[in-house]
Amino acid sequence: MTPGLINRRLGILISGRGSNLQAIVDSIRERRLDAAIAVVISNRADAAGLERARDCGLETRCISHRDFPTRDGFDRAIVDELRAHDVGLVCLAGFMRLVGAPMIEAFPNAIVNIHPSLLPAFPGVDAQRQALEHGVKVTGVTVHLVTPELDGGPIVLQRAVPVRDDDTVDSLSARILIEEHRIYPTAIAMLLEGRWRLEGRRFRSPSGDEA
Ligand code: GRF
Repeated sequence: MTPGLINRRLGILISGRGSNLQAIVDSIRERRLDAAIAVVISNRADAAGLERARDCGLETRCISHRDFPTRDGFDRAIVDELRAHDVGLVCLAGFMRLVGAPMIEAFPNAIVNIHPSLLPAFPGVDAQRQALEHGVKVTGVTVHLVTPELDGGPIVLQRAVPVRDDDTVDSLSARILIEEHRIYPTAIAMLLEGRWRLEGRRFRSPSGDEA
């Protein structure tokens, strides 16, 4: 059993372009998601998503992993920033660093990630390329809770995306991204709603089947 989340303040971690961040911002603006973005943190100063966040009037921070001799030190700096902003749910949105013990212990079952494949197939980087090279006919997108195992935590929501014969990494990634932008805000809403629990690895939510 896991108690639901009650704090609707999101901390969003990015490393790149930030299109999922934008989808979350849009969902909040359009009142499809009842949440507030407390802070956007990037480990890269040149992340386009940081610019996007500033344009949306969001609070931003850059915490570079290069400024810390250890991974735990970097993690702890992020935790401090998230706590300073009273964050209840941490959303990884293209954050290209492994999340370590200090963060997972500070936010147990309150860190969520989006991954561009149907996990447990194709974890790690270049999931769309992995899917194409493997020759699967269907891939997709997964939103999952973050545990110490890379891309291995309980699955909150998934959507399938068919692979076409003429797909390239770019065309497939673009179709997956459309689904990412649809399901990430929905999954966040399910988590914030609080009526979910874990049974072993299984994420159970009354709204899970309609989502
Ligand atoms: C997405 O494909 C996401 O699934 C993966 O990284 C990419 C981030 O894209 N984890 P964006 O920065 O949200 O546009």
